[in-house]
Formats: sequence, structure tokens, C-alpha cells
Amino acid sequence: MTRTLWVLGNWKQNHLPEAAAACARQIADDLPDALRGTSATVGDIRVGIAPPYLSLAATRPFVRPHAMLWLLAQDCGAQDAGAFTGEVGPNMIAAAGAEAAIIGHSERRALFGDTDRLVQAKLRAALAGGLTAVLCVGEALEVRQAGAHEAHVVAQLDAALAGLGPEAANARLVVAYEPVWAIGTGHTATPEQAAAMHRRIRAWLTERFGSAGTDRSILYGGSVKADNAQALVAAGDIDGFLVGGASLEPASFLAIVARAAAHVGT
Ligand code: PGA
Repeated sequence: MTRTLWVLGNWKQNHLPEAAAACARQIADDLPDALRGTSATVGDIRVGIAPPYLSLAATRPFVRPHAMLWLLAQDCGAQDAGAFTGEVGPNMIAAAGAEAAIIGHSERRALFGDTDRLVQAKLRAALAGGLTAVLCVGEALEVRQAGAHEAHVVAQLDAALAGLGPEAANARLVVAYEPVWAIGTGHTATPEQAAAMHRRIRAWLTERFGSAGTDRSILYGGSVKADNAQALVAAGDIDGFLVGGASLEPASFLAIVARAAAHVGT
């Protein structure tokens, strides 16, 4: 089967509502140009933006009319409601117009104490709330240097997806491999490094979920730019990108979308 390609922009803590709306509008306006000359249709590729919670509502009017455009939250609280100061749960994310949430981003894990256990709870809440969950996994530099990167990522998958059956993961789970040493550093994983890890993740998903696992899209993230996107997407088993810095400007983001879309049907 052909898996859906995803190109997702994670804006992190950037873009107040006005700036976010302007970016979203430009992405929506210029998306057809980015796809021109490719055979990519709605079923082939999904393009998503993940503004801060505060800016979700402002971007929604520009994203909503486009079947190919998705709105994502950058995280998802583990509860729907209650005495959880500062939290935003899946029902609130859905009410703001987002259909998906990034879960377990390495910045959440490293800077805000998101443990494997909390990542699992957030992922379950997101899926139960009807959202698509984009689960981030990836190793730090010292883990790779020690040769333990595959074991580390497998342990993260084991923990985050413990107890979930294929019906829970089916169609609404996306995995993003983001080596921590590549995020915001300008050091992209080589296509070979990324493809090798993606094959390992694919094997895990297939073993765990059968054909539903084989069908999940696995994205790469970490210093993706237009000039490295093409080699990565061509490396095999890389079903698109989670983009940070290069997603903040519509033009550089859409240049990555164009590279991914050019791969459709090749
Ligand atoms: P980057 O971030 O593209 O700026 O490296 C990727 C991410 O954190 O998802």
C-alpha cells in the first residue's frame, strides 16, 4: 500500500494569533502552487501546522476549508477536565478546531518532565478524544554514540503504546522519529541513519499491530529543510516530516511540502 505522506510544521512557542493567522493564510493560499506539477492529491499528502494553543483558533478559518490542511496541537493534556491548572485536554483541542496533537516531543520530555508514563497517558487521552496522535521518539547524542539508539527508541515505543491494540492505533497514530541531536542544530540525520531507524520502527509497529502497524506513517524530524527533504523522502520508509524552524516561514515550509509532494507516485 502507499502510505499517506505528512508534512507537519511545529511552530513551538512562536507566532501570536495575528502572526499565526497571517502564516496560515499564506500557507493555504500558496499550497496549490507548491503542489503544481506533482500528482499529489488529498489522499496522498497531508500538510499540517501546529501553532501554540493560544493561536489555534486564529488559524482555524484558513486551515478548515482545505481538505489537505490539518491543524495540530503541540501537546495534549491527559485529562478532559478537572482541577489541572495549566492543562489543555483533548476535548479543548478538538473544540479549538485541531484534529491531531503532537505527543512526547523531546522538548516536552527534556524540559517539562514528560516521562514515558505521562506520554502514554497523553497519547491514550488524545486517541480516546478522537484526535490523531503524532508520537515523537528519538535518542540523544550520547545514546547514539553508545550504539543504543535502536534500543532506546524501541523502549519509548514500548512505553508509549503499552496496552494499546490495533483498533486504538489504527489510522489515528503517526510516529515521528526525531533524533534529539538533530533538532534545531542544523545536523540532520543522514538518509541512511533515518531510514535504518524507520525500518526498525516499522518492524516494531508491524510486530505489534500487524498490518495496521505496517500502514502507519513514520515521519522524520530534525533540521529538515528544502535542500535535504528530497534525499530523506527518497530513502525509503520515510513518510514525511515534522519540521520546526523551517516551518515558521510559509515559503520555506512550502518548499519542503513541494519536495515531499514531488515524491508522490515515484
Ligand atoms: P527543527 O525541529 O526542524 O527546528 O530541527 C524539529 C522539531 O522539533 O520537531
